[in-house]
Amino acid sequence: MDKFVITGGKPLHGTVAISGAKNSALPAMAASLLTAERLALHNVAMVRDIITMGKLLAYMGASVTTSEFPAADYSFQAHTISDAVAPYELVKTMRASILTLGPALARTGVARVSLPGGCAIGARPVDLHLTALEKMGAEIATSHGYIEARAPKGGRLKGGHVVFEKITVTGTENILMAATLADGETILENSAREPEVTDLIVLLRKMGARISGDETSTLRVQGVAALHGAEHFVIPDRIEAGTFLVAGAITNGDLTLTNCEPRHLGAVISTLRDAGVSIEESAAGTLRVRGGGKLVAADVTTEEYPGFATDMQAQYMALATQAEGASTITETIFENRYLHASEMIRMGAHISIDGRHAIVRGPAQLSGTTVQASDLRASAGLVLAALVANGETTIERVYHIDRGYERIVEKLSAVGANIGRVHAPSS
Ligand code: EPZ
Repeated sequence: MDKFVITGGKPLHGTVAISGAKNSALPAMAASLLTAERLALHNVAMVRDIITMGKLLAYMGASVTTSEFPAADYSFQAHTISDAVAPYELVKTMRASILTLGPALARTGVARVSLPGGCAIGARPVDLHLTALEKMGAEIATSHGYIEARAPKGGRLKGGHVVFEKITVTGTENILMAATLADGETILENSAREPEVTDLIVLLRKMGARISGDETSTLRVQGVAALHGAEHFVIPDRIEAGTFLVAGAITNGDLTLTNCEPRHLGAVISTLRDAGVSIEESAAGTLRVRGGGKLVAADVTTEEYPGFATDMQAQYMALATQAEGASTITETIFENRYLHASEMIRMGAHISIDGRHAIVRGPAQLSGTTVQASDLRASAGLVLAALVANGETTIERVYHIDRGYERIVEKLSAVGANIGRVHAPSS
């Protein structure tokens, strides 16, 4: 298993181009199951989850074409769906495989997706996806570890009134996709408003879907008989951009981020400014972050968009270790998303956890040691901590970070970080 070796203490200077959003590309790829025609996607991040989704679509019978591999440009064409099954081997490595359930069921009238099971950041059930599909007339059974979904007689889902008990990002995306081909109108209330959901709506509309309510929590979908091909440029990755904003600030550097969408980073930018970080929009789609000022404690609570993203919590914790005073972090989205804290404590951070709250007292001089990555964003938090730690930090299990950060070693090295990847044979 690969490791990163990072020697901290170097300010980062230069320009970083932000990649396309993984969490936008994944549902966009799944949307290719909704039509027999070709879907061309651009600005796709070259990360492992995208490769996994490509494999899953190919398993289901879609042809996946690209000029090189991995690439930023792909085309997907599911002339027919030969096997509407998402097998355990793929689902266990990527929960987002559940995104094939809605489109496969809507297109073919049947779908089988392995139950995702637990994951490092909590139980993460899919009950809300299933209840919503039932509201649309689907019959759902689970057996042998698989969800088996069947559309009503005639093979077509019916429009329904879905009120999500809790806001769910992939749940909203799954049901939106299913509703595009349903018979009649579907109303989705308490939907997620994440930019990735809006990006999916934009794509589905290009494919011929009839959807209204973008950026609000009530979405209305008028089902159509068929969708057609489309071409789409995936939005920039707001979490990668946020991670590099913290990297610039925490190292007292001066970074310019290009190809980003500042509008999607409102809560992150305002929290970082509260913590004393200087951030300006230097041109359209460009952010400049400068460290050097004193970092001060600022509290943060993770929330659904437009609140502060849970996917930025670990990175913010790394910054808080360097801020003067006590920062309280409250995690409201996932119940077990502080696994990075114990590793940061091993590096010398002063963090205490009490249920959903973490209190981080700073500034602490971190010192390099060997730490383990536990999930994608936790790994990013550890990389950031290592960038300011004294001496050398080895981060193990970096396959987690490869799931969602495109060429992070190369991007950080190019702006002056002392970081290397050690290829180690799997044990
Ligand atoms: C999406 O996961 C993202 N993944 C996650 O990104 C992100 O952390 C999360 O949204 C929250 O923003 C993708 O977009 C592919 P949820 P998702 O359903 O959709 C509970 C990353 O690092 N819930 O919005 O799976 C759930 O347990 C990641 O890129 C139910 O109870 O998250 C959680 O507490 C990881 N029942 C809350 O809702 C359900 O059926 C929100 O989860 C579904 C969810």
